[in-house]
Amino acid sequence: MNASTFRAQRIAGIEPSIFATMSQLAIEHDAVNLGQGFPDFNGPTWVVEAFTEALKSGKNQYAPMPGTRRLRNSVAEYHRRFYDLGWDANTEITVTAGATESLFSSMIALLNPGDEVILFEPWYDSYHANCRIAGADPVCVTLHRPEFRIDADALERAVTPRTRMIVVNNPHNPTGRMFTREELQSVADIASKHDLLVISDEVYEFLTFDGRHHIPFATLPGMRDRTLTVSSTGKTFGMTGWKIGYTIASAPLTDAVRTVHQFATFAVNTPGQHAMAHALDRLEEYLPEFRAMYQSKRDLLENGLRDSTLTAHRPEGSYFMMVSLPADTGISDVDCATRLVTERGVAVIPPSVFYSRSEEGHGMLRLCFAKTDETLREGIARLQQC
Ligand SMILES: Cc1ncc(COP(=O)(O)O)c(C=O)c1O
Repeated sequence: MNASTFRAQRIAGIEPSIFATMSQLAIEHDAVNLGQGFPDFNGPTWVVEAFTEALKSGKNQYAPMPGTRRLRNSVAEYHRRFYDLGWDANTEITVTAGATESLFSSMIALLNPGDEVILFEPWYDSYHANCRIAGADPVCVTLHRPEFRIDADALERAVTPRTRMIVVNNPHNPTGRMFTREELQSVADIASKHDLLVISDEVYEFLTFDGRHHIPFATLPGMRDRTLTVSSTGKTFGMTGWKIGYTIASAPLTDAVRTVHQFATFAVNTPGQHAMAHALDRLEEYLPEFRAMYQSKRDLLENGLRDSTLTAHRPEGSYFMMVSLPADTGISDVDCATRLVTERGVAVIPPSVFYSRSEEGHGMLRLCFAKTDETLREGIARLQQC
């Protein structure tokens, strides 16, 4: 029996993610890992304590399918406090297994085979894969370096009668851009004009630097009812392994998302939801230190790279930094990343895998600075030699 012939057509051409490949190489070569996007340090102790308290007090059975009432209320409350957005916790908020499941359930629920979905490249890899699994065609609009701005004309040109959805990620992985109100408005205008849905992936909504404030896409005029907002407590509280995310959308869109969610995961771990509700209720106290810590890590990395041949593109948000390779290296990002991990002992991500139109990714690397200062200093020392 040739088991590989049993692979469904809808997954044809979907390759193992680059993160798994680079992390495996990092382990084999005992490398400093500035590749995959997660902290190599623990999240706040008081959030861990809230989890253990929930475990001990018996919050260990299935949560309700849309998420615990308490967590959905906490999400609705912080959207009201921070963004002046009103959401019905009953019908408009769904807790999912990380933002990953939010994106999957939303795209499977709302796309038909043959639909087109506009992605900005470089993209977060699951958007592309989810489109393919849904039978839809990704259409890419490039955010060109060095500014990585949204080009409204290119976006308008990408729309066809088959276009159904635009996916926005803000703050943006991997470029670290926080799009301006004007850029976001240009997307909103096109979404209204062509009657398109928008998935707005806002997992880094609180990872913002230099006093910048996040603009939720749903706050733009007319966007509340055509936007599905995706976020992740894993990013906000540095607990990516708990996999607690959520989708916020109008009741009819939420109803569609829940139709997939109830059979994809049904419910997300109960004690973690209780802990994250407790954590979201304390965002105001938590955020200043959280932002300051990440901003200092960004600065440490950026300053450290001044003595290298790499040119940093300063991120405004997220915990990623794109760096340009010198124009005359003559090697691609993939070769460079492979050499760095095997010869210098530092793992990074080659971003060309996040592009399908432009060749620009070949001239850059993506670094993650959600790492202890010690890890960052060691990584910088190894990158300085390249
Ligand atoms: C832009 C973006 N969206 C979604 C996710 C997935 O989030 P989660 O870990 O909550 O599934 C990530 C994780 O790296 C991300 O960078």
